[in-house]
Parts: sequence; structure tokens; C-alpha cells
Amino acid sequence: MTASPHRHRSAGDVAKRSLRDVVLEGLRASPKTLPAALFYDARGAALFEDITRLPEYYLTRTEHDILLRHAGHLADLVGPKAAIIEFGSGAAIKVRHLLRAFREACAYIPVDVSREQLHDVAAERALEFPHVPVLPVWADYTEPFDLPEIPDTARRIGFFPGSTIGNLHPDEASAFLRRVRDCVGDDGGLILGVDRRKNPRLLHAAYNDAAGVTAEFNLNALLHINREWHATFSKSAFRHRAFFNDAESRIEMHLEAISPQHVMVGGESITFAAGETVRTECSYKYDRARLDRVVSAGGFRVSELFTDAQQWFWVVWLEPV
Ligand code: AVI
Repeated sequence: MTASPHRHRSAGDVAKRSLRDVVLEGLRASPKTLPAALFYDARGAALFEDITRLPEYYLTRTEHDILLRHAGHLADLVGPKAAIIEFGSGAAIKVRHLLRAFREACAYIPVDVSREQLHDVAAERALEFPHVPVLPVWADYTEPFDLPEIPDTARRIGFFPGSTIGNLHPDEASAFLRRVRDCVGDDGGLILGVDRRKNPRLLHAAYNDAAGVTAEFNLNALLHINREWHATFSKSAFRHRAFFNDAESRIEMHLEAISPQHVMVGGESITFAAGETVRTECSYKYDRARLDRVVSAGGFRVSELFTDAQQWFWVVWLEPV
């Protein structure tokens, strides 16, 4: 039988094809936008790891400390027989706090689009927590996916740390939560990391670090486009811009054209005026009212909130309504 190219297309290829359409649509639009997914090629993923260790980028270490301090309490709330489903597991570092505390967990289900990292990480966690079956799922968690077989008695608990929810617009965040709600069922739950609204100076510093790593991370999106779609962006013709949009309660990252220019992308010519920007990312910062709105539109309610001494970040325990 002749193999159909469609049947053999990997999840990555399908994602790449539609990403190209999103990129071109965003560059044709006014104002211009690019999807934040472009950040995460191999170099971007390494730069993001560097960002998480920057003194100005408080998010990662603050969430880590909250999880460390409150994992025992979360374990009590969740109860025994948890099947932890991590949406976009990446290096699966933070979940270790949960796996250590949830002694009777009956499964850990990391879901990630990066196949190699998923299988490496699954093997590592299986070694580290031999009492917990690790059942990796290779999938894009933003699309529907099948859960592996788990015991009927398991309580399905979603885990979505890092304030990645902040990179979704509020309606997208609620739509994502509704899918999580379907996945965990009526007696499930979700442990969610959320960055809080705070002094704009702190936010500004976190996205404009002195070492320029966030600028590199942002500009790297252009090199990613060049590589994937034979584009002609010059990194030195753009500069990093990040600011807090108070009305929308979000950090916006942009790339600003230093001079007027034409860039070829996928065979199309895209024109930039001097000073014109392309928005590459939004990172929403939540207060309680905004959180409640998004969560209830997602079919959950906030059952418990854990924060740090400075009240910069939340780890939230959500239960279905
Ligand atoms: C992945 N995400 C939660 C990060 C954020 O803070 O919105 C991405 C990032 N962008 C710039 N620095 C980090």
C-alpha cells in the first residue's frame, strides 16, 4: 500500500503549516501581530530558560516558592488518587513539588508537543517517582487529545503553571479552561499559575531586563521566521519594546522597525514604516475580579488561592461549577 503523506504527517508538520498562515495574516494586518508560538524554537526555548533565572523575572521563582510551601495543602484539597494532567509539560520541573506531596497519586500525564523532550522527561519522572505511573501524551494541548487509560477511581487534576494562561486573551483563556473542564470532568480540578497585577515598574523591569535577554528572545522570533519561511528580516533593523497596557492589564511585547523597510515572507512583500511595530506577545496580569470572570466563563470557580509574601503571584485551586 502506498503511504499517504497525510497519514504520515506529524503533529509538528500540521502545526507548522497553520503557523505559516497565522504569521502571514498577522503581518498583513494593521496593526501587525505575530503569534507568541514563534518564540519557542530551540534557541528561543533556551533563551526562555535564561529569562526564568533573571533577577528581574520574578514569576518563575515566586511560583516555585508558593508550590514548595503549599504542595502539602494542595495534596489535602485534591485528596488521594489524583491523576495529574500537565498541559504543556516542557521540562516538568514544577510538577515535582506536587508529585512529592501527592503520595498516593495514581498517574502523571504530561502533555506536550515536543516529542523528544516529552519522552525524556517522562522517563526522568518515572525514575524519580517509581510509585506513580507516568503516561506521556504527545499532543498540542490547545487541541483536543485522548487521555490514556486511568483507573475509574482517579480524580483528574489539571496542572497549568507558569502564568501561561496570561499569554491568552481573556476569551481564549476561558475557552481553554472550558476544554480543561471537559477533560477533568465534574469531580476534577485545576491547579493554575497566575501572575498578579502589580506595580507597573516591576512589570516593566521583568520584560525589559538589564542584560537584554528578553530583547534577544523577542528578536529571535524574526530569525525563526527567516529560517522557516525563507524570510528576509534583519534583526538589527528592529528593536525590542515592552510596556504595560494599563487598560487591558497586560504587558505587550512588540518589535519596532527602526527605519522604513520591505521584508519578504513566504514570497510576499511586507512593508514597515519607520517606528511601526508588530506585537509579538501579550502577558495578562490578573486581579481577583478579572480572574473570577475568566474562571467562571471557563466553567470553574476559585476554591483556594495561594500567594507569596509580596503578593506577586497566585497558585489557584479551581473546581468545576
Ligand atoms: C511563558 N510566559 C508565561 C512568559 C510571560 O511572562 O508571559 C513568556 C515571556 N515573555 C517574555 N518574557 C517571558
